[in-house]
Amino acid sequence: MEFENILVETKGRIQYITINRENKLNALNQFTLAELHDAFTRAFKNEAVGGVIITGAGTKAFVAGADITEFQGKDVDGGRRIAYEGQSKVFDAIANGNKPVIAAVNGFALGGGLELAMACHIRVASDNAKMGLPEVTLGLIPGYGGTQRLTQLIGRGKALEMIMTADMLTAAEALQLGLVNHVVFQADLIAKAEEIMDKILSRAPLAIAAAIRAVNDAQTDGVNGFDTEIEEFARCFGTADFKEGVAAFLEKRKPEFKGK
Ligand code: COA
Repeated sequence: MEFENILVETKGRIQYITINRENKLNALNQFTLAELHDAFTRAFKNEAVGGVIITGAGTKAFVAGADITEFQGKDVDGGRRIAYEGQSKVFDAIANGNKPVIAAVNGFALGGGLELAMACHIRVASDNAKMGLPEVTLGLIPGYGGTQRLTQLIGRGKALEMIMTADMLTAAEALQLGLVNHVVFQADLIAKAEEIMDKILSRAPLAIAAAIRAVNDAQTDGVNGFDTEIEEFARCFGTADFKEGVAAFLEKRKPEFKGK
C-alpha cells in the first residue's frame, strides 16, 4: 500500500502497521495520523485481515508523542480541531474497531504515543519501554483520549499523578498498574503479540467484535453496558459461527469459524 510514514504488511490474517519516522522517534504528525486513519479503515473493512499489530520503527520508540513542531502557532480553535479530529478519526476508531488491535510498545510511548497504545485493545511492552503523558510540561493536557483512557485503565489517583507530574513509568511499573498486559524482552515483543493475536484469531470473529463493543460500553457515558451485553449476546445466536461452535463442542472436534 502506498503510505509514506507508515509501513503496512500482512502475514496470514495479521496486519502489521509500523509507524515509520524513526529519526523523529515516530512522532505523530497530522500526515501520519491521516495515514493511520486510512490504514485502519481499510484493515477493518478487509475480510482477509483478522487483527492488527501496531508498533514503531526501530528499537528506541513506539511513538514519542504528537509532533510538537505542529503545535506551534495554534489557537484555541486549532487545538480543539487537533483533539477532535484525532480522537474521532484515529483513537476512537481503533478502540471501537471490529477487529482486535494489539500495541507492541517497543520503547518510548509518550503523550499521543501512550494514547495510541491505550486506544488499542491489548498492550504488550518490551522491557525497555517507558510510558508517560508529559503534556503538562508543554502547557497542555492529553488531547487524544489520555485523560479518560488512563483513568479507566489505572484509576483516578494514579492517572492524576502520572498526568500532573509528567513522570514516566518503566515497563515493570506499567505492568504492575495494569497499563500493559505483558512485558517481554524486546527481541520477543512481536512474537508475544502474535501469540496473543493467533489465539484470538482462532476464536469466532463476530463474537470477538461483539466482545469489543460490549466491553467498550462498560465505559460509554449514557449507555448501560449490561443492556449492550444482552443485545450482543442475543445477536451471536443468529450467527453460523455460534451453531458451528456448539456443534463442534458436542462432536468433540475443533470448530471451523467463518466469521458469519
Ligand atoms: N515531536 C516532534 N519531534 C520529536 C518528538 C515529538 N513529540 N519527540 C522526539 N522528537 C524528535 C526530536 O526533536 C529529535 O529530532 P532532531 O534530531 O531533528 O532534533 C529526534 O526526535 C530524536 O529525539 P531526541 O530528543 O534527540 O532523543 P532523546 O533520546 O534525547 O530523548 C525523548 C528522547 C523521548 C525523552 C525526547 O525526544 C522527548 O522528550 N520527546 C518529546 C516527548 C513529549 O513531550 N511527547 C508529548 C508530546 S504531546
